[in-house]
Amino acid sequence: MFNVMISGANTKNQGLLNWIREVAELCKPERVYICDGSQEEYDRLCAEMVEGGTFIRLNDEKRPNSYLCRSDPRDVARVEHRTFICCLNKSDAGPTNNWVHPREMKETLDKLYDGCMRGRTMYVIPFSMGPLGSHIAHLGVEITDSPYVVVNMRIMTRMGQAALDVLDEKGFFVRCLHSVGAPLQPGQKDVPWPCDPNNIYISHFREDRAIYSYGSGYGGNALLGKKCFALRIASILAKDEGWLAEHMLVMGVEDPDGEKTYVAAAFPSACGKTNFAMLVPPKGFDGWKIFTVGDDIGWLKPGPDGTLRAINPEAGFFGVAPGTSMKSNPNAMLTLTKNCIFTNVALTEDGDVWWEGMTDEPPAHLIDWKGQDWTPGSGRLAAHPNARFTAPIAQCPSFDPEWDNPEGVPIRALIFGGRMSRNVPLVFQAFHWSHGVYLAATMGSEATAAAEGQPAVRRDPMAMLPFCGYNMADYWNHWLNVGRVLGNPPRIFRVNWFRRDDQGKYVWPGFGENMRVLKWIIDRIHGRRYGIESPMGVMPQFKDIHWEGLEYDPDTFYALMSVDRDEGSKEVREQEDLFDLFFDRLPKEFTHHRELYKSRVWRSPKVWAMAKERV
Ligand code: OXD
Ligand code: MN
Repeated sequence: MFNVMISGANTKNQGLLNWIREVAELCKPERVYICDGSQEEYDRLCAEMVEGGTFIRLNDEKRPNSYLCRSDPRDVARVEHRTFICCLNKSDAGPTNNWVHPREMKETLDKLYDGCMRGRTMYVIPFSMGPLGSHIAHLGVEITDSPYVVVNMRIMTRMGQAALDVLDEKGFFVRCLHSVGAPLQPGQKDVPWPCDPNNIYISHFREDRAIYSYGSGYGGNALLGKKCFALRIASILAKDEGWLAEHMLVMGVEDPDGEKTYVAAAFPSACGKTNFAMLVPPKGFDGWKIFTVGDDIGWLKPGPDGTLRAINPEAGFFGVAPGTSMKSNPNAMLTLTKNCIFTNVALTEDGDVWWEGMTDEPPAHLIDWKGQDWTPGSGRLAAHPNARFTAPIAQCPSFDPEWDNPEGVPIRALIFGGRMSRNVPLVFQAFHWSHGVYLAATMGSEATAAAEGQPAVRRDPMAMLPFCGYNMADYWNHWLNVGRVLGNPPRIFRVNWFRRDDQGKYVWPGFGENMRVLKWIIDRIHGRRYGIESPMGVMPQFKDIHWEGLEYDPDTFYALMSVDRDEGSKEVREQEDLFDLFFDRLPKEFTHHRELYKSRVWRSPKVWAMAKERV
């Protein structure tokens, strides 16, 4: 039997103790440490990483208690083509996931894991996704050989002794095993970012509800509480238990009378979810306040009162740094003033961080994300486009104290939005739940924001394409079923901040001005204002939007709201390509919605500027 010293926190959970021993025997680490989640432990690991060259401590006057980390340039993002759903039947993973039989994947992984932690510490990270002890929350344990993962998990989850206490002696936890895949031979010097980029496996075992990740140390590949657990595995749990695990921000909107309305919103990656979650109301919105519950993931469970109640399972932000500025997202910038980890951003001469878009003028000299000298004329990016900040949510000025409410918050609207330069209006409301599910399922987003021509549209149903842990058609059926049991389901809306004119210029100012759209949504929920029926759904007219503080031309607004009939029909035909993939598992309702939609398109005038015609 493999003999190894176990130190750190204590647990009496026999299932956990057995699993720790099993993994230690396979991975053969130098030592095993169970994390207690204390500040002292965090500081100690950060200091060790500074010592070992993984972390650079930033200037304590400018950015107290914060660190910069540079990854291996081959390990900089999630890798969807190395992400696998392992279940007994291939059809249960569906045509949009990479499938491998669990037996085959276990054989592959067992070989890779054998001795993979030699010379390293094996860290055991107990964590709760969601408020400790909440009936909406779930527990996990991540075993990893990366101290970078430990300190990031401490920001991103409720981690350590408190989670062990909830786990108690017999509690269930999702097993999450992670290794960077870089064992050390005796005497071998470590590198700042060990990884095995040619052998990455991010695998999810449906029947075991377990996650096994190998080879990468970056973000969603390695912080297994996030995409792997809180979305892929949780979506499987949610289907079995009758709730929804979604790629959604959760926010509260308070009106000047103090009435707070919660909404959840799904956008594909890189569509400004973090900005929307922390929106600062613009001019003309005195007395309105936004409260941030979460910026990336929402778990929504039917409550006793017939509503959906949501928690943010996470405790921090793992946000994309480039593009974040005092103009685009002041609340994010204020969140980042202390106690943060920055990965792959640039270092300034005075020991602070910088990234593209942070300031109008770049500094005259930087050290770039690869550790090389950089000047504005060097023709390279100073920060990697997927450079990240890890920051505690409680530091956000718009942080909602309800974030830790074990009962969650009542969700009154679900908002879905992709990045579409044409053919999707600024905002419209689904006629009812099942129509809303169809609208969300057919959501598309442009891969790149091309100024001209027709950029490629990637269908990203519910913004869950890379994150749904099972067959997407079963997932849509599940959504329809959830609607059937809700006495008071949230209203469903589509939005699109990204319409462009013929010159390729954005037609809608976005950012804080999105508050105007949000207010119409809130008004609709409370029945305070009416829209008109259009072929797509219920739409606002110009007069229904609160324009105080912004000069906006009604004709531009109607251009933003209208859709060309031929383009609209083409869009419907393209949805068929998506539906064909799923064949007999496709919800029957979807075919009806598509046909109704087609006939509404053909009955309507040459363009769907319905709102304008009815002013
Ligand atoms: C993310 C993503 O990192 O969606 O949140 O890719
Ligand atoms: Mn995301």
